[in-house]
Amino acid sequence: MKRIMVTGAVGQIGSELTLALRERYGADNVVACGRKTAPSAELKDSGPFEFADCTDMEKMTEVVKKYKIDTIHHLAAILSAVAEAKPQLAWNVNINGLYNVLELAREHKCAVFTPSSIGAFGPSTPLDDTPQDTVQRPNTMYGVTKVAGELLCDYYFKRYGVDTRGVRYPGIISNVTLPGGGTTDYAVAIYYEAIKNKKFTCYLDRGTFLDMMYMPDAINAAMDLMEADGSKLKHRNAFNVSAMSFDPEGIAAVIRKHIPEFSMDYDVDPVRQGIAETWPNNMDDSAAREEWGWKPEFDLEKMSEDMLKVLGEKHAKGEL
Ligand code: SER
Repeated sequence: MKRIMVTGAVGQIGSELTLALRERYGADNVVACGRKTAPSAELKDSGPFEFADCTDMEKMTEVVKKYKIDTIHHLAAILSAVAEAKPQLAWNVNINGLYNVLELAREHKCAVFTPSSIGAFGPSTPLDDTPQDTVQRPNTMYGVTKVAGELLCDYYFKRYGVDTRGVRYPGIISNVTLPGGGTTDYAVAIYYEAIKNKKFTCYLDRGTFLDMMYMPDAINAAMDLMEADGSKLKHRNAFNVSAMSFDPEGIAAVIRKHIPEFSMDYDVDPVRQGIAETWPNNMDDSAAREEWGWKPEFDLEKMSEDMLKVLGEKHAKGEL
């Protein structure tokens, strides 16, 4: 029986992944861990919750022992734009937090899922059909921590046999918890603004293509990879996974099919624009498809339909 710990469980991916894991493996078997932000009632009432900062090894050890954890989904991380503003914090959380998780996994024989990111690529990477194995020389602190994290996870597998697995997530779009300080966040905010105000000011420029994915596919990626036959995985930590690629004009055009009066203008943020320009336009995720059957369900049209429906209902109930 799996006994799972989720770090970053109050965050954008963690809040939904925790509920999905509880559904699949039993609520009592999935411990949600947050650092500071109070969990939603749904998260707190549906299973165990602990305040545990991944940089606090003592507290993390206590939780692993208390619940006899055998699998860690390590979602706690600082995203790219915040990492550029606070590089020291990003190093501490993204590297030292991961190191703690890997050491715990080594000692207590846990499997580990850790997301890497499109941010693990950089300006010298081929940006179209970005291969699974290619140049990775990112020039952001976020990217530095993600590449180091991929390598560290590979090392713990090779050296200690820790069952580490991971994907390079693209921008993740969801309608439950907002992302916190990433470069791809515009593709979430645009739907909220379209519903609330029918207009949006975009901080990335037209023509800036990035890989993206709807949350249900992101959750399936994590769960399916952890269930996959380990003997078939050649790229354990950091499979390219994508579901769609678009630029701001592309997503706005699809929103306009549902809300014809929707308008968008631009106020480009040089920091996030600079980051986005070093990330792939679209990744080749054939290794994930071949090695563990990755297959996304949502494209831009299908995701937009669902996002606008869910957010429209929330708006009507006064919840936005
Ligand atoms: N969504 C993340 C970010 O923008 C990319 O991994 O930072």
